[in-house]
Amino acid sequence: MAEPFLIGEGMTGGYGGTTILNDCTISVDRGEIAVIVGPNGAGKSTAMKAVFGMLDLTAGSVRLDGRDITRLAPQDRVPEGMAFVPQNANIFAGMTVRENLEMGAYLRRDDISGTMEQVFDLFPILREKQRQNAGELSGGQRQQVAVGRALMTRPTVLMLDEPTAGVSPIVMDELFDRIIEIRRAGIAILMVEQNARQALEIADHGFVLVTGENRYTDTGAALLANPEVRRSFLGG
Ligand SMILES: Nc1ncnc2c1ncn2[C@@H]1O[C@H](COP(=O)(O)OP(=O)(O)OP(=O)(O)O)[C@@H](O)[C@H]1O
Ligand SMILES: [Mg+2]
Repeated sequence: MAEPFLIGEGMTGGYGGTTILNDCTISVDRGEIAVIVGPNGAGKSTAMKAVFGMLDLTAGSVRLDGRDITRLAPQDRVPEGMAFVPQNANIFAGMTVRENLEMGAYLRRDDISGTMEQVFDLFPILREKQRQNAGELSGGQRQQVAVGRALMTRPTVLMLDEPTAGVSPIVMDELFDRIIEIRRAGIAILMVEQNARQALEIADHGFVLVTGENRYTDTGAALLANPEVRRSFLGG
């Protein structure tokens, strides 16, 4: 089998002396959505941080497009094509929508107006509200700002930690539709979701994490069809 475009393989590590991730493997290919699900405290966010280089691994490696990036600092992964929207504090509330998007492109020295138009086409409400402070927007709109800001780097890998946290089911569906649109552009999307069932419905691959370990790894469809996964993690 070919090596996945992005893989964190056998990742072991945690905070201080505490090991949270234990031989955890997460991967995603271009033009695919991979979803990490699992109970609260399972280590989903920690796995995302590990893939993005925000955690010291005591074992395992992270490879992007065949290249070992395990020791690359997070800020050096951005020019390599990786964009990460963390679970919390993922926008600048005191800045306008437009300024947030410009901040996303801070590393670029070329003309960003085309990318900004693409983000506005994807999320039209942001075009309308571009001069408003991001902190004044609804939860769903703020998540659009966070995703849009990440897209401003023109990533090949988009990592989203709970992009639908705190939004209504309708807004969640809309956001998932936009994420499917982003996948169509050939971007690899790795996301954590608490709305496990709905997320697995749009996922090419899913990873069920429990206590920092891979419990189930399969296609989204296979996980949805697995009675044990349904009973233990999808509410029946
Ligand atoms: N900065 C930190 N320092 C120490 N321990 C942490 C830190 N962040 C998380 N932990 C611990 O690591 C474990 C995994 O946390 P993590 O945030 O990765 O879980 P999660 O699966 O993302 O949970 P949730 O569904 O609540 O977002 C938990 O026991 C948590 O208390
Ligand atoms: Mg989390």
